Amino acid sequence: MSGSAMSTLELDPRRKTRRRNPRARGHYLLRDVERRARATCGLFVVGTDTGVGKTRVAALIVAALARAGLRVGVYKPAASGCRRVGKALVSDDALALWKAAGEPGQLRAVCPQRFAAPIAPHLAAREERKEINARLLRSGIDYWRKRSDIVIVEGAGGLMSPVGERDYVADLAEQFGFPLVVVAPNRIGTINSTLLTLIAAAARPKPLPIAGIVLNDVFPRDNGDPAVHFNRMELETRCVPPVLAHLAFEASDFDAPVDWVRIATLS
Ligand SMILES: Nc1ncnc2c1ncn2[C@@H]1O[C@H](COP(=O)(O)OP(=O)(O)OP(=O)(O)O)[C@@H](O)[C@H]1O
Ligand SMILES: [Mg+2]
Repeated sequence: MSGSAMSTLELDPRRKTRRRNPRARGHYLLRDVERRARATCGLFVVGTDTGVGKTRVAALIVAALARAGLRVGVYKPAASGCRRVGKALVSDDALALWKAAGEPGQLRAVCPQRFAAPIAPHLAAREERKEINARLLRSGIDYWRKRSDIVIVEGAGGLMSPVGERDYVADLAEQFGFPLVVVAPNRIGTINSTLLTLIAAAARPKPLPIAGIVLNDVFPRDNGDPAVHFNRMELETRCVPPVLAHLAFEASDFDAPVDWVRIATLS
């Protein structure tokens, strides 16, 4: 890796931001708004790409937290490629997360903006002569903050996937303030896509906190891709955030227990 890419990663994304001048106008008001917005802790599950196992990993995290007795909220700001059931559109991601959480609250609040076409949500919305509601992308999570101890959010696609006319997944992650869990598929190419995701998170004006990486076996181990045997070690060597866990192909849990609550309250 080049020196500049490495130095970007060495900027610890979990570092503290500079203190604001307490006398600055609006400071107290802003702090108050931030505090209320972050009353509930959470994690934002992003992927290095679409189809890498975000829902699978997020559902396992949710189930572990629910088993531990927490009230778990689940939120997916927008979903495309939804199934038509009668007049309704069902997001299978929302359904999986909601079931893993023990079916709290209302399913439709898990993903308030659902579209049929399997393309980026703002494009899928256009196909239906609709528009993504940028405000609802942000405020839809409040339903869960109010009734949960912890909220697990699943992004759409990767960190730089568009979710609205002007919004990217990264913008929502910044708004919610939860540490990122980066799901990396265990296959050739994952070192590159994981580093690009970490760099994108660290390069924002306000770097996004990163809890760590979950390496996910999206294929059986013996599928002929030798990279699967090296990816964990390579990620551990090259990335500042830790590899939190590994999920084997068709496994029903991670390779080791993870204290998700502690991780969610780190930033
Ligand atoms: N560890 C695994 N073992 C077996 N199959 C897996 C594993 N992880 C993911 N899959 C399968 O790969 C597919 C994609 O996984 P998943 O839906 O979780 O990805 P995603 O990142 O949430 O996708 P999207 O971008 O559409 O939300 C699914 O069919 C899922 O069952
Ligand atoms: Mg998903």
